[in-house]
Amino acid sequence: MKSAAPALAWLEAANACVIGQLGQSLDGRIAMPNGESRGINRAAALDHLHVLRSRVDAVLVGVGTVIADNPALNVRRQQGRNPARIVVDPTNRMPASALCMQSDGGTRCFIITGKPRASADTPANVETIVLAAENNVIAPHRIVEALSQRGFKKILVEGGATTLAKFMDADCLDRLHILLSPLILGAGQIGLNPQPSANIAESRRPMTHYYPLSDGDLLLDCDLRRTRP
Ligand SMILES: NC(=O)c1ccc[n+]([C@@H]2O[C@H](COP(=O)([O-])OP(=O)(O)OC[C@H]3O[C@@H](n4cnc5c(N)ncnc54)[C@H](OP(=O)(O)O)[C@@H]3O)[C@@H](O)[C@H]2O)c1
Repeated sequence: MKSAAPALAWLEAANACVIGQLGQSLDGRIAMPNGESRGINRAAALDHLHVLRSRVDAVLVGVGTVIADNPALNVRRQQGRNPARIVVDPTNRMPASALCMQSDGGTRCFIITGKPRASADTPANVETIVLAAENNVIAPHRIVEALSQRGFKKILVEGGATTLAKFMDADCLDRLHILLSPLILGAGQIGLNPQPSANIAESRRPMTHYYPLSDGDLLLDCDLRRTRP
């Protein structure tokens, strides 16, 4: 079995970076039509995700993921510290009870919003960053800049599809880790939805390395700053 360690080595070496991740089926889906998404990947892929979390400064998700999954976004499957947790929630839809915003051992939690949020709806430990939205989009480079100013230089964009697409379309992702499961769902949300290319020749073909994981899933480590010749 080829070790996936090289897929993490660049992360150790980087001073600053934005990495996206998606756990998806063979037919490119990250959730069933009813929102069910747990179980697409097996243990080794989940372990990899937790290693990623433990090696970044901040993990970021869109509010859609919080409402659908209520993830904790902490490091449980590996040794390591919890990254700061960031939710992009431009219109303040996130419930105050969201697990990822609960105080746990001093982990910092942030909401990135387009307008101030009522303090009654915001747990006391949560910090709010207000960034103006244009056409309902908060520019991803402004999100990265705001986090960098607070000392968060390595950022994991953990999903979902809408959030990742916004980062990809703004050319704000350096790397993408796809955890591909040999599973066919037949219906459900597609994981990668960037703006369409004009044609195949102009489509992005990132330099990609492949690592089979021990229980059948495959890690695709895509370097979005380098093109495959
Ligand atoms: N398999 C996986 O790896 C994985 C990982 C994560 C999530 N998921 C699945 O993905 C689904 C959720 O994905 P999703 O695409 O519906 O939601 P999402 O990407 O989690 O959240 C999208 C929402 O976040 C806000 N948002 C994110 N970035 C923004 C930006 N730059 N500017 C303005 N608003 C921004 C918007 O909120 P408003 O709508 O309020 O404008 C947007 O509609 C769930 O079913 C979850 O289970 C799967």
